Amino acid sequence: MTISTNKSKTLFHLQTDHTSYIIQELENGELGQVYYGPKIHQKESYDNLMTREIHDATPSLSEGMQDFQPELIKQEYASFGKGDYRYPAFPIEQPNGSRITEFKLQNFAIKEGKSRLKDLPSTFDDTNDDAQTLVLNLKDQITDLNLDLNYTVFPHQDVIVRSSTFINSTAADYKINTAYSSQLDLPDANYDLIQFSGNWARERHLYRSPLRPGLQSVSSLRAASSHQQNPFIMLARPETDEQSGAAFGFNLVYSGNFKDSVEVDQFDASRVMVGINPDEFAWNLQSGTSFQTPEAIMSFTEDGMNQLSQQMGAFYTDHLVAPKFAKQERPILINNWEATYFDFDEKKLMSIVNKAHALGVEMFVLDDGWFGKRNDDTTSLGDWFVDKDKFPDGLGHFSQQVHDLGMKFGLWFEPEMISCKSKLHEDHPDWMVGDPNAQLIPSRHQFVLDMAKPEVVDYLYEKISQIMSDTKLDYIKWDMNRNITDTFSRYLKPEQQAEFAHRYMLGVYRLYDQLTKAFPEVLFESCASGGGRFDLGMMYYAPQAWTSDDTDAVERIKIQYGTSYGYPLSMMGAHVSAVPNDQNGRITSLKTRGAVAFFGDLGYELDITKISEEELKQTKEQIDFYKQYRNLFQFGKFYRIDSPFEEDGNITSWEVVSDDKSLAIVGRYQLLNHPSVAYQRQYFVGLDPNKQYTVNDSSETFYGDELMNAGYFVKMAQVDGNYSSDFHSDLLIAKEI
Ligand code: GLA
Repeated sequence: MTISTNKSKTLFHLQTDHTSYIIQELENGELGQVYYGPKIHQKESYDNLMTREIHDATPSLSEGMQDFQPELIKQEYASFGKGDYRYPAFPIEQPNGSRITEFKLQNFAIKEGKSRLKDLPSTFDDTNDDAQTLVLNLKDQITDLNLDLNYTVFPHQDVIVRSSTFINSTAADYKINTAYSSQLDLPDANYDLIQFSGNWARERHLYRSPLRPGLQSVSSLRAASSHQQNPFIMLARPETDEQSGAAFGFNLVYSGNFKDSVEVDQFDASRVMVGINPDEFAWNLQSGTSFQTPEAIMSFTEDGMNQLSQQMGAFYTDHLVAPKFAKQERPILINNWEATYFDFDEKKLMSIVNKAHALGVEMFVLDDGWFGKRNDDTTSLGDWFVDKDKFPDGLGHFSQQVHDLGMKFGLWFEPEMISCKSKLHEDHPDWMVGDPNAQLIPSRHQFVLDMAKPEVVDYLYEKISQIMSDTKLDYIKWDMNRNITDTFSRYLKPEQQAEFAHRYMLGVYRLYDQLTKAFPEVLFESCASGGGRFDLGMMYYAPQAWTSDDTDAVERIKIQYGTSYGYPLSMMGAHVSAVPNDQNGRITSLKTRGAVAFFGDLGYELDITKISEEELKQTKEQIDFYKQYRNLFQFGKFYRIDSPFEEDGNITSWEVVSDDKSLAIVGRYQLLNHPSVAYQRQYFVGLDPNKQYTVNDSSETFYGDELMNAGYFVKMAQVDGNYSSDFHSDLLIAKEI
C-alpha cells in the first residue's frame, strides 16, 4: 500500500520505496504534519511524535486546549490568524476584509494513478507505475470554501507531488492573496540550504549556507523562473555530500514568479514553502470558480546528493517529460547563431548545412533573423513571416534542401515578444504589456506581448503552426529574451491586475499545449537568453533547454555541474562553439570544448566552413564518438565527483554510468596546469565492485572496487596541439570485459 489510513481515518501515511510522509488530523479538525524522512513502519498512531509541552508566551488555540499551541505544531498547510505566527500558506480575503479561516478535514479519497492538470504543466502516471493519489478535502468553517490538498506518491522514485485546489461553491466572492503549492514543517534547523543562482551567461552556480533563524528564500519577480534564481533547492544535513547523507529536494512545475522559502522559527523548526511568489500575486476566487496551484515536487534520500539528483531526474523522465521524447535520443545539431548572427542568406547557410551533413550532424537549426526585416535585434519580433531577401524561394524551399540531405530542420521563434519596429506593432500597439500612461521599459530593444489576452495566443498559434506545416519542421527553439518589469495588462480589469503574471504563464502554457498537441512529432527546446527559464514547467512541453548563452567550456563546467543537481543531462543543450569564445574571449582546445559538451545534448554552434581541415577531422571524430555513446551521455546515471565549486576548484570531474554498470565515462577537467604536481588519480564512482573493466581500452584490467577506491592514474596535462596545457580535459572510458 502506497497510501494508507488508520482505523479512525485520522492518519494518512504516504510511503515510497524508501520514505514516509505522515499527516494527521488534529483535535481541532485541522491537519498536522507528523513526519517526512526515511521510511518508517506503519502504525495506528504516532503519539510520541505528536507530544506537546506547554510553552510560555505563545498562544493556545482555546482556554480548554492549553497545550494546543499552533506555533509549536507542525502544520500541513498553515492558515492565517489562528495562533501560528509563522508565514501562512494561503490567506484568503473575505468580503468583510477578514483573512482568518478554519479549514477542517471533511473527507478524503485515494485514487490509483495521477492525471494531468488541465491548464498547467504537471506530472502524470501514463505508464501505471504504481502512483497513488490522495485528496484531502477541507472545508472552511467560516466561509464554506473548500480546499483540496492533493498528494501523489511515486513510490519507485521516492517522490511526492503536492498541489492545492481552492474551490468556491458559495455565493460570495473571495480573494486568494497567497497560494503556496506545498509546505513542509521540519522539526529542526540543522540543514544547509543549497540553491542555484547566477545571472545571464552564469546560470545555476551552487551556493550552500547553513540555515539561520528567520526567513531565507530564493525567488523571482520577473514573470519567469529566471537566470538569477532557480526554483530547485535542496536542504541537506551539514555532513551530506554527493555520496552520502540526508537531503531533501524541492522543485516546482512552473515557469513564472516563484518563491521557495525556509523559515526557521524561534523553536528551531524549519518551514519550507514552495509555490507562486505571493508578491505580485492575488487571485479573485469568484463564486462558482476554483483555483489550482502549480505542482511542487518533494523528494528525500539518505544517500547523498548524487542519489537525490538521480531519483528526481528519473522521475522527470518517467512522469513529466512528453513520453514520446523522454527516452528518445536527441539529435546532434548545428545552430547558426554564433556562426552568422543576423548576417546570412540561404547560400551561406547551405554551405554550413552541407559541411555539417558531411560530418554526420543530424539537424540544422536556423536561429534568429529569418523573419520580417530582422537584420539586427531592434526590429521585427512578432512578424512571423519569412524574410524574402534572405530566402527568396521561401523557408519551405530551404527546409526542403535540408530534409533532402536526410537532416532534420529546426527553427527559432521568440513567440512572446514584439518589437516596436514591426508590422505587428503597427496593427496591434495595444497588445504590449505595460501601462500606456507610463514610459514603457525596453530590454534588448523589445517588449512583451500580453499572453494573458486570448487573442494574442490565438494569433501566435495561427502564425507559428502555419510555418511549422510549411517547413515540415522537426524542432523549435522557443526563446524568451527579456523579463517583464512594467507589469500591467490592458486586457485585464483593474481588479485582475495582480493576476497578470500568472495569467501570462497560463497563456504561454496554452500556446505550448496547442502547438505540442497539433505537432506531436516536433521536439521543442526552450530557451530564455540561455538558461533563464530552465524549469520543470518548460520541461513538460519542451524536453530540453538551452542551458546557457555562455558556450565557453570552462564557464560551462560550473553551469552544467550546477544544473545537474536539479535536472538530468538529457534536458541540457550543450554546444561546441568557436574560440576565442564570444562571451569571454577564452581559448580552449576543441578537445576540451567537446569533452564538456558531450555531457548533455550535443550541438555545434560555429561556422564550420571556417575551421581548419584538422579541426574538421576532429569534429567528425567527436560526432562519431558521441553517437557511439549518446545514450549513455543523455540518459546514463550521472555522478558528480570533483566539484568546481570547491575552494580550489581546479579539477572538476563527473561521470555517466550505464544502468547495468558495464560502461562508464568520466569527464575530468583541469583549469590551470601547475608544475611538479603530485601524482593524480581519478576515482570512479557507481561501478560494480566485482566487475572487471578496461580504461580507454587499456591492456591492464581493473576491478570496479579498485577504480573506485584506489583510483586510476591520470597523466599530467601536456600542450594540446596548438592549445596550451591549461583548460585540459580527459575522458576515461571504463568498459566491462
Ligand atoms: C538568445 C538565445 C541565443 C540566440 C539569441 C538570438 O540570446 O539564448 O541562443 O538564439 O537569443 O537572438
